[in-house]
Parts: sequence; C-alpha cells; structure tokens
Amino acid sequence: MTALWTSDEVNKALSPIAVTAPFAAEGVTFDSRAVGKGDLFFALSGETTDGHGFVADALARGAAAAIVSRDVAGARGTLIRVPDTMKALVDLGRAGRRRSKARIASITGSVGKTSTKDALREMLSAQASTSASVASYNNHVGVPISLARLPREARYGVFEIGMNHPGEIEPLARQVEAHVGVITNVGAVHIGHMGSEEAIADEKGCLFAGMAEGAVAVLNRDNRHYERLAGHARRFGVSRVVGFGRSEVAEARLLACDLQDSGSDVVALIDGRRIEYRLGAAGEHWALNSVAALAVVGALGADVVKASVTLAGVKASPGRGARRMLKFGAGAIELLDESYNANPVSVRAMLAVLARTEPKAGGRRMLVLGDMRELGEGADAYHASLAGAVTASGAAQVFLCGPHMQALWHQLAPTQRGVHRPDSASLAGEVAAALRAGDVVAVKGSLGSKMKIVVDAIVAASDGEAGH
Ligand SMILES: Nc1ncnc2c1ncn2[C@@H]1O[C@H](COP(=O)(O)OP(=O)(O)OP(=O)(O)O)[C@@H](O)[C@H]1O
Ligand SMILES: [Mg+2]
Repeated sequence: MTALWTSDEVNKALSPIAVTAPFAAEGVTFDSRAVGKGDLFFALSGETTDGHGFVADALARGAAAAIVSRDVAGARGTLIRVPDTMKALVDLGRAGRRRSKARIASITGSVGKTSTKDALREMLSAQASTSASVASYNNHVGVPISLARLPREARYGVFEIGMNHPGEIEPLARQVEAHVGVITNVGAVHIGHMGSEEAIADEKGCLFAGMAEGAVAVLNRDNRHYERLAGHARRFGVSRVVGFGRSEVAEARLLACDLQDSGSDVVALIDGRRIEYRLGAAGEHWALNSVAALAVVGALGADVVKASVTLAGVKASPGRGARRMLKFGAGAIELLDESYNANPVSVRAMLAVLARTEPKAGGRRMLVLGDMRELGEGADAYHASLAGAVTASGAAQVFLCGPHMQALWHQLAPTQRGVHRPDSASLAGEVAAALRAGDVVAVKGSLGSKMKIVVDAIVAASDGEAGH
C-alpha cells in the first residue's frame, strides 16, 4: 500500500523553501507527545507553546519529517522548511481532500457533534473503509489535521466542525468540501461570544459553504431555527434539504424511543422506510442523534438498514453520558457520567434521561451540577431557568457548585437542596458521603467546572465496577 504521504506529494502540496531527502509518512500530528514512528510532525506556534521546541524530540521519536518555519538546533532528521507552518498544515489538508474519492460528511451543531460523528464512524466503517476526526478535533487545527489524515483509499470521511467565535466555520467548511452536511441543533452554547441564538444559527449555517456538487443538508426539523438554516443551505447552493426529528414533516423521523437500562429501543422512518433498532446509548437526545446519523448515511449512499444494526454497539463515552454500575454498601449505585461538558441544551437532555432512570430498591435520584460556562451576561438566568427541569427529573437531592449555580440554588425547594459549594473539589466528598445503595447519581458540568473530580470521588467511595 502507498504511504499516507510520500515526500513528492508533500513537496507538491507545501512548496517548501528547500526540497528534502525522500521519505514516506504514515501519520500527521502536531502533538509531540503523540508522535509515532513515521509521522509528519507540524511545528505549530500556539498561544503558550511553540512546536519548534519539540522538533528534536519528535524526530528522535521516529517522526518521518518535521515541518518547520525556522532552524531548529540539535534536530537530527528531515526538516521541511516553509514560511508558515499553520498555512502548510491547511495546504496539506486541502491536498488530502482533493486527492480523495471518498464520500464526505461534515458535522456541526451546538451539542452532539462528537456523539453523531462517532456513531457515523461506527456505521460507515462496518460497510467500507472510513476515516473520521479524532475526539473533538473540530477547530482551525483539528480540521486540517483530520483532512491530512484522510487515507487515499478511504471510501467515507466524517469531519467535525466547531466554533466559539463568529467567522470560524466557513473557512473550515470550505476545506472539508462535504457532500453531506449535518447541523445537529442550535442552542445557547458559547452564547457569551456570539450574542444571540440567531447569530449562532447564522454561524452554523456557514457549514454549507463550498460544499461539493449535489450537496445535501441534514437539519433538525424540531429546532426553531430550521427555516433559517435551510435558507443558508439554499444560499450556498445545496441541492436537497433533509429534515430529521420528531416532527411529522421530517423526512428522517423519530417515531418511538423506549429507554432501557443500557440503551434505547428506537423506531424511525428513514426515507419512507420504517426501521427498528437498538441503540447502545440511552436518552431521546441520543435517539435523535442516531436518526440524524442515519439520514446522513442515506444521503452518502450507504446502506441505512445495515447501519442501523451497528447502532447497538454505539455507547455513550465517559463524560458524555456513560453509565456505570458501582458496588456500593450492600448493593450498587448507578453513575451517569456527564462530566465532559454542559450547556442549557445538554443539561436538559440529561435531566430527561435521569427522569426515566429508575433507582433500585431503597435508592433515590441524586443530581450533581457544576457551572455551565461561556453563557455571557445571561449566565445566571440560564442557570436559574433549569429549576423546572430539575424538579421534573425527580431528583431527590441536588448538589451544586460554582458561582452561577448559586442562581439555581435559590430556585430550588428547601427539600431538594443538598449543598452548594464554590467548586467541585469542595463538593466531591460531600456527594460521595450522601450516596447510598440503590441510588442513581448524575454528574454534569462544563469541562472548566472540573466535575470529573466528583466522578472520581464517587468511584473511590465505591467498591468498584459492578457491571450491568
Ligand atoms: N442532540 C443532543 N441534545 C442534547 N444534548 C446532547 C445531544 N447529543 C449529545 N448531547 C450531550 O451533550 C454533551 C456533549 O456531547 P458531544 O461531545 O457529542 O457534543 P459536541 O457538540 O461534540 O461538543 P464539543 O463542542 O465539546 O465538541 C454530552 O453530555 C451529550 O450527552
Ligand atoms: Mg465534540
């Protein structure tokens, strides 16, 4: 098999200042800690660190070559000198995209990008060779790196595109040139930087810039910004818009979703065909992600029914809704780990899951929430407005931390209140001490709220995994 990148191809794509000795690269990275043998290492300059400081180390660890913009003392190996390493990465990503014959999907949305992307990877790779972005590699570095990693023989490519600020999506979408673009939903996420939900919708709508011929847009029919997004799709010349959701006019429709202990039984209508499948992750939001993903599968030209069977193996990952049964006292507790991130949309989705999760005999629903970040001036109001959903979740006791969660604390009935603490470190021990056998405990907060500390304290207080 031909290497991911030959030196001839790299020289052609980057037009380096001096052409180097021949090499063959099997991977592309900018993280010196992750460099494997045969990788191309890009020395990028970040806000705090300059990748040039790690070039010697990357080469010593077996990198095939390093892309640099200046001399590096003590580097033994192949250096490819370019004026701007970030631009060179974008150029290589574009070259990767241009040579590919794969059918390409791009994903953005306020929540559910990685969940949907991972489901698509599972479904498509069961049918043909598929390459997808790693983790949440969705920004100005993650997207071109992911494109540069697209193997020449891949039949499908799936790329996550994200944003924190206006203007970020369009250039990334133009690099990806997708055949199918999906926007999972639009909500008040990063609203502190964006101003309004409408501004967020307009930014997400840029996903359809520069798409390939005959492009398809997959949009959330239940979202109140649907028409606005469809307008953007048309403005960018998309040929077909497919709606997904509960709505009766959605082409990809969620008909029923039965939450089970370790997943959901889903009935959906995709392109006029009724499909029943098991989904390895629990919750209506996951079911909706799966319906969106199946619509993408269909639009890419892959087999939808075959793909739906694969969904049984799709599980929520740690921090994104993974469930764990832990031995505790004379019984067990169920831990719902949502510690990876939080915003008003995903907290409500989690609370709906908690409401439908039955505690075991003698147990209660316990809720632990940390601050949702990046909500701007309206942050306190967004936190306070969760009160109704918290009550509807059936949580017997609510533990909160972070300055904004104070606003929610004031809305809770005294009987619901556990404690409120300034941060997760001071809350963790009290949560662990309050639990008893039979409880279901859900933990959620923005990454910056460090709710993993609470998750770790609960695990430490237990007697280990109990299995489902
Ligand atoms: N459709 C959805 N609606 C509401 N919440 C969702 C949905 N899909 C996933 N979530 C929840 O949102 C959180 C983040 O999910 P995920 O990592 O898939 O989102 P993301 O958009 O990739 O986030 P990021 O911007 O951090 O990359 C998880 O807690 C997950 O359970
Ligand atoms: Mg993500």
